[in-house]
Order: sequence, then C-alpha cells, then structure tokens
Amino acid sequence: MTDKPTILIAGASRGIGLALVGQFAKRGWRVLGTARNLASGAEISKAGGEVHLCDVTDPHSVSRLGKSLAHESIDLLLCNAGIYGPRDGTVGNTDYVEWQKVIDVNVFGPMRLVEALIEPVARSKRKTIAFTTSRMGSIAMNAGGSMIYRSSKTMLNQVAKNLSIDLAGKGITVAVFHPGWVQTDMGGPGATLTIPEATDAIANTLSGLTPKDNGKFFNYDGTDLPW
Ligand SMILES: NC(=O)c1ccc[n+]([C@@H]2O[C@H](COP(=O)([O-])OP(=O)(O)OC[C@H]3O[C@@H](n4cnc5c(N)ncnc54)[C@H](OP(=O)(O)O)[C@@H]3O)[C@@H](O)[C@H]2O)c1
Repeated sequence: MTDKPTILIAGASRGIGLALVGQFAKRGWRVLGTARNLASGAEISKAGGEVHLCDVTDPHSVSRLGKSLAHESIDLLLCNAGIYGPRDGTVGNTDYVEWQKVIDVNVFGPMRLVEALIEPVARSKRKTIAFTTSRMGSIAMNAGGSMIYRSSKTMLNQVAKNLSIDLAGKGITVAVFHPGWVQTDMGGPGATLTIPEATDAIANTLSGLTPKDNGKFFNYDGTDLPW
C-alpha cells in the first residue's frame, strides 16, 4: 500500500496514454497502465508504470483486469484507449461493420472498464473517472465529415454525462476531455501539439480534478468545451 494517488491508464502502450504514464509518474503518482500485449507493455515499464494486460473489446479481459485490481484503490481511472476507424467514409458508402468496431472500442470499452473497476475507484480518496474524448464528438462544434469517429465520441460523451449523474451517489467525479490535436499515430505528423506539450497540460488538468468538475467537458488545457 502507498500514500501516493493511483492512476490507471487504459490504453497506455503508445501515444497519449504512454506519455501520460511518464507525466503522472513524474508528478509522484503510482501509475498502472494497460497494454494489449507484453511487448508494448514494456514501454509502460520504461516510462515508470506497472503493466496490466487488457483489451477493452474483450469482456473476459476487462473482467480479469477488474479481478486483479479488486482490492486496490484507484484515484483516477482514465479510459484513454481509442481508434479512429476508416477515414474515407462518405454518405453512401458507410462501412457498418467498421462503425460497430469503433463503437466497441470507444464506447463499450470505457463502459466495461467503469463497470469492472467501480469499487476500486469508489474506495479511493479522489474517486475520479476521466474519458479521453475528442472535440470531434461535440455536437455544438460539429464541422461535418468523419461520421464514424465523431459519432462514437458523441456517444462516449453522453455515457460520461450519464455516469456523472448515475454515480454521484457514490461520490464519484466523472469528466471528459479533448486531448488537443496531437502528433501521435492517430493525430498524424501535421497535428498542432507535440505529445509532451499536450500530455503535460492534460496531466495538470486531470490531477487537479475535484468534485466541482463532475459532468464537465474540458479541453486539454483545462478550459471548458461545449457539448
Ligand atoms: N491524437 C489526437 O490528435 C487525438 C485527438 C482527439 C482525441 N484523441 C483520443 O485520444 C486517445 C488516445 O489517442 P492517441 O492519439 O494516443 O492514439 P494512438 O497513438 O493510436 O493510441 C491508441 C491507444 O489505444 C489503445 N487501444 C486501441 N484499441 C484498443 C483495445 N481494443 N483495447 C485496449 N487498448 C486499445 C492502443 O493500444 P495498441 O498499441 O495495443 O493498439 C493505444 O495504446 C484516443 O481515445 C483518441 O480517440 C486523440
């Protein structure tokens, strides 16, 4: 047992999740990170995190993770794993199989994690759950295109908002945040933010979450975004 706050980052093998392992370790947190295989898990160890295996689309895998952490205390559960899906969709050629896969990772995955880890979060001091969403999931800021990814993040936003109300009785704070447009495999080299720039700001925002932030949608720098 430790007095350090504990964060579990689901989807920590690369990109934003992996960099956040280092950011939180640097800030004195105990960091647990999930990867889908041991090879990518090695990166989490190098960054200062403890490795757990989990594929968020596999209920058995998420359930195993929940059982292995059943007696832990998780101050901040960060559901970060996500995929973009097909980038070439236009109205008239929608790939419904791919759309379902994206929803399985981006929406059902986070919900499975919450259901498996609710007790370790509820017994922690901070009792916080955060979801990596995207400004592309904002209905207010919709600029069209990317139907599959956008709609998955909109659905995630609604799930998070629901949880912020449904879990209030347990004293749990739930928030979503847009990580910025970041130079990862998903964001591409033309993105506006480097991984260290984005994740330094995200770690400051997430480590400062308090109950007054319940049900909010944040930008990476802690400013509010419209739903
Ligand atoms: N980059 C951006 O500009 C940007 C903007 C807005 C929102 N976001 C969001 O930020 C989050 C992280 O994105 P990123 O840019 O860091 O993307 P990334 O570099 O592509 O990394 C995605 C992460 O999700 C994990 N993942 C994918 N499917 C998974 C599954 N079924 N089970 C468990 N883990 C899985 C990946 O693990 P593997 O290594 O095993 O594939 C990897 O760790 C995502 O939710 C994304 O939608 C990113």
